[in-house]
Amino acid sequence: MSKRTVALLFGGKSTEHEISIISARSIALNIDPLLYRIIPFYIDHEGRWFCEGIAAKILDFDLAGLMRSTSRQQAEAELRSRAAASGQPLFDFNFRALEVDVAFNVLHGSYGEDGRVQGLLDTLGIPYTGCGVSASAIAMDKALTKLCAGDAGIATAPGMTLLASDYNADADAIDDNIENRFAWPVFVKPASLGSSVGITKVHRREELRAAVLLACSLDRKVLVEASVKGKEIEVAVLGNENPLASVPGEIQPGSDFYDFEDKYIRNEAETFIPARLSETLVEEVRKQAIAVYRALGCSGMSRVDFFVNDETGAIVLNEINTIPGFTDISMYPQLFEASGIPFGELIDRLLRCAFENNGISAD
Ligand SMILES: Nc1ncnc2c1ncn2[C@@H]1O[C@H](COP(=O)(O)OP(=O)(O)O)[C@@H](O)[C@H]1O
Ligand SMILES: [Mg+2]
Repeated sequence: MSKRTVALLFGGKSTEHEISIISARSIALNIDPLLYRIIPFYIDHEGRWFCEGIAAKILDFDLAGLMRSTSRQQAEAELRSRAAASGQPLFDFNFRALEVDVAFNVLHGSYGEDGRVQGLLDTLGIPYTGCGVSASAIAMDKALTKLCAGDAGIATAPGMTLLASDYNADADAIDDNIENRFAWPVFVKPASLGSSVGITKVHRREELRAAVLLACSLDRKVLVEASVKGKEIEVAVLGNENPLASVPGEIQPGSDFYDFEDKYIRNEAETFIPARLSETLVEEVRKQAIAVYRALGCSGMSRVDFFVNDETGAIVLNEINTIPGFTDISMYPQLFEASGIPFGELIDRLLRCAFENNGISAD
């Protein structure tokens, strides 16, 4: 295979901007330099893209007038010759001007992980790592994930979706409804955020209002969920048509639940690779990870998170992360490392999946 040029997309407008930079750094350090050359694309908090940049050139002439006065073919020919004369292909954004073969997308969270950047790359005809538009969009929305998983026979926590506008109109009625339907504690979460931002474990009715209002301030759609008992188990999945599931890993939160501080500040959560589960549960959870990956139409990669109750054997899907953390100490690369796929090879496989998705030979 000749050396391929990889646009490494990182940073981004989401709350996971900083973690994305750390993920990108470890990808840059671990990618095989004999196979790939990296061009970094940094997106700042405001959404501005920085690269070795040449801006797209827009031609300024009356195409509509030309189409009215001549045939469509003649108008097209004129457009092409003007584009050629401009020295740059039309609408080619920066990627192709830089001869990018593929994008490695490590934009965690909103915009990068939810299908929007994927749609942009599809439009530009650039292959990219990870899931496509619809799987990304579904996995980003915890309420939609629940619907798809349920349809595929995968259990999720009993839940209720509410819209911020409805809650603002009649919070009392919705609070009553929640209290009637669920036993305490319940989890209240914005449907489409990550890193536990805006998530509250609500132990009694008096705490409910503030929790829902917080989630409503961050997202127009909010999920209320019954609390699930069990170990937090994560499975890394890799591939397109015949995906591979890693050995499961386990996170033991350092506090009441795996909240933002526990993830990034306190450092008290413990990780077990492989997870402390029986062989039977290990096989079952890997099987379900693949089932849910296929049900959502995932490709490339995803980390599928479950609650597994090793007393009852119940396996409950929590969520799917289509662009999981990629730092040296992140679960996704570590789980594959433990499954016999080192970081460098993992990156190569993800890029090959991107080419395969686009019908391009990786060799
Ligand atoms: N239904 C639930 N039952 C028990 N714990 C939950 C539930 N939902 C969320 N949690 C806890 O909150 C954490 C973050 O929730 P999660 O849905 O994974 O959001 P995020 O996308 O922000 O990671 C989980 O890792 C878990 O510790
Ligand atoms: Mg999570």
